[in-house]
Amino acid sequence: MRDDGMISPVGSTTEPVPSLEFGRDVVEGLAQDPKRIASRYLYDALGSRIFEAICALPWYKITRDESALLERYGPVISSGFEATPTVIELGTGSGEKLSLLLGPDGPQTSMSVHLVDISSAALMRSKQTLSRHPGVEIVTHEATYEDGLVAALDRIDRDRPAMIIFLGSNIGNMAPAESDRFLRKSCSGCRPGDRFLLGTDLIKPEAEMRLAYDDPLGVTAAFAKNLLIRLNREFDGDFEVDTFDYHVVWNEQASRIESYLVSRVEQVACLRSAGCCIRLAKDESIWIESSHKYSVETVVAMGRNAGFSLREQWIDPESRFALTLFEA
Ligand code: AVI
Repeated sequence: MRDDGMISPVGSTTEPVPSLEFGRDVVEGLAQDPKRIASRYLYDALGSRIFEAICALPWYKITRDESALLERYGPVISSGFEATPTVIELGTGSGEKLSLLLGPDGPQTSMSVHLVDISSAALMRSKQTLSRHPGVEIVTHEATYEDGLVAALDRIDRDRPAMIIFLGSNIGNMAPAESDRFLRKSCSGCRPGDRFLLGTDLIKPEAEMRLAYDDPLGVTAAFAKNLLIRLNREFDGDFEVDTFDYHVVWNEQASRIESYLVSRVEQVACLRSAGCCIRLAKDESIWIESSHKYSVETVVAMGRNAGFSLREQWIDPESRFALTLFEA
């Protein structure tokens, strides 16, 4: 979003130059079997906006389920804020989740908020959302969760406890080994008394979970295919977007929805400025995302294994979503 509130054309000169890391990740990922691209690269300016549209779809209920909990229990959760005037939000998105947590009148004390997101568009949007709350000083970190958390912890006043919030079931996009490493690292970066609020989507009937990721309007398919548009733009590529289908699988054993882009034809696609050409067989897929779903017990165990202790947990009556507050 531009300062004047107008929407800049996606792909305009405001788009950042692709990082070396992005190029390296793409080349490495496409050389693997199965081919894969990390889901964090779905969030360019257009991808971030499509994701916001996904959150409004009737079939994708994560945002609404979590928001209902945040609205209901926000005052209890944020009562901890008085003692912790620093909040670090990992994966801030539109900023609406944190805004809900702060409540319509909050916070009562001045507060420093560090927003971490890989997407500059999301950071701008979130900053704008949170500007509704007077007394909130905002610092942004355009970084991965891990790097952003380290940077934020480095800058805050460590004499008072901090609250780290990681909502939207963003943790679900990490493989178990990755989330375990991430939570351990987060816990070891914390001081005793720091808090960690985790939002996780819970396991539901398979049909419902599939529909959430393969919606009848095709918005999630557009979100996925935009990754190819981004690759073409940033690496001078020639992926033919309309030769790919979007496909999701519920992997029960791994407790996750897996999302793929599947080539309808045998083809060779090149990303010239990344120096990479790949051959795709007919029906070969590129794995672009995993969305893990949890049981309540798994969530608690994940936090405890990482070194946190459980303070409190809030779950809706239909057991759709869990907000879990850990303490270091
Ligand atoms: C951001 N993340 C938690 C979303 C999810 O549910 O895995 C991303 C998403 N992908 C497709 N729909 C939503």
